[in-house]
Amino acid sequence: MTMDLFESSSSEPWVEPLCEGAVVLRRFACADASELLEVIEGLAEQAPFRQMQTPGGHTMSVAMTCCGEWGWVTDTRGYRYQRTDPLSGEPWPLMPTMFRSLAVMAASAAGYSKFEPDACLVNRYAPGAKMGLHQDKDEDDFDQPIVSVSLGTPAMFQFGGARRSDRPQRVPLENGDVVVWGGPARLRYHGVLTLKQAQHSLTGDSRYNLTFRRAR
Ligand code: SIN
Ligand code: FE2
Repeated sequence: MTMDLFESSSSEPWVEPLCEGAVVLRRFACADASELLEVIEGLAEQAPFRQMQTPGGHTMSVAMTCCGEWGWVTDTRGYRYQRTDPLSGEPWPLMPTMFRSLAVMAASAAGYSKFEPDACLVNRYAPGAKMGLHQDKDEDDFDQPIVSVSLGTPAMFQFGGARRSDRPQRVPLENGDVVVWGGPARLRYHGVLTLKQAQHSLTGDSRYNLTFRRAR
């Protein structure tokens, strides 16, 4: 093998199993990262990032927006999916084609060949932001997986068990890493530890995360 071949093959994405039903597709979205971030900027012009209120009255540290047929929202009335952005009353921006195809390819690479996302949450973490352990369970159909794309600065993802009290694994995530969980892992608790101060050439000190789901 020549050095050139060796170098190009060593930068290819690789797969890391987390548990039955869940994998990390390392660097899977690297090649698309700058385009994804440009598209996120465009989405945020239509549906700005906002820090939502939890049903308990706390302001989330993560700023969110959505695209696709359904958007996930939280306020003092609870968590839910809705077709319109509560800030504007308008439908959420369409899911960009490149978002959908990335999510479908990632799901398929993880063994979920029939993923049809209708919702994409876009999370923006500034240093100090975090997301506590939770389950993604506001969706109707748990047969479809969750596809979660990391962009920008590194974060420590927590991947727990079926119960909140199960000690989570710590999974460092970098720009371009994609986590897919479904099947027996679909309702696993997960979260993100407080984002550390860091710099990334594409995002400055921020981390972005795209989570694709089938909501309805
Ligand atoms: C989430 O669980 O919605 C976000 C996960 C992440 O930011 O990696
Ligand atoms: Fe989640």
